[in-house]
Amino acid sequence: GTAALRAAVRQRIRVVPDFPEPGIRFQDLTPVFGDPELVRRLAVTFTAAFDGAFDRVLAIEARGFVLGTAVAAAADRPLVLARKKGKLPGPVHRADYALEYGTATLEIQRDALAPDDRVLVVDDVLATGGTFAAAGALVADAGATVAGYAVAASIAGLHGAARLAPARVFSLLTTA
Ligand code: PRP
Repeated sequence: GTAALRAAVRQRIRVVPDFPEPGIRFQDLTPVFGDPELVRRLAVTFTAAFDGAFDRVLAIEARGFVLGTAVAAAADRPLVLARKKGKLPGPVHRADYALEYGTATLEIQRDALAPDDRVLVVDDVLATGGTFAAAGALVADAGATVAGYAVAASIAGLHGAARLAPARVFSLLTTA
């Protein structure tokens, strides 16, 4: 069940203090990504958390690509990539956002989403919510709807989910 998955994932998250900048506690999910059974169970859990009520999966570069791909495959929905600036050819929608460390820009191709699409946005970790908010702005720019946001872990005390309200956020676990 979900409690067992939560415990197994928590055990495989490595917290690295002061990386990549002083004061940042980096949540390294590499050991989670390296465990195929955990990735499969996360994908099924994310899908079930939203009752499969989404038409496409939007995965966030770079670490969001891993679970996003797994969810799209498990749910049998098309995968859409939100990439950092300058990586996608053709006309794009673009959103700038602030990170815990620095600033960044996310883009999606303009033809990647249809106006009636319900989009599940997937990443590994939710911190301030700036990344998800930018992804949500891209979905809105395309005229589509955010079905919800899903992550393996969210960082306690940063209020990332509150920033995304009233959209639904599924986070398997909270970490410090
Ligand atoms: C990390 C993480 C999320 C984001 C969360 O990615 O994978 O995408 O930060 O932070 P936020 O909620 O405060 O916006 P990062 O930007 O480090 O990029 P990467 O996945 O390419 O390593």
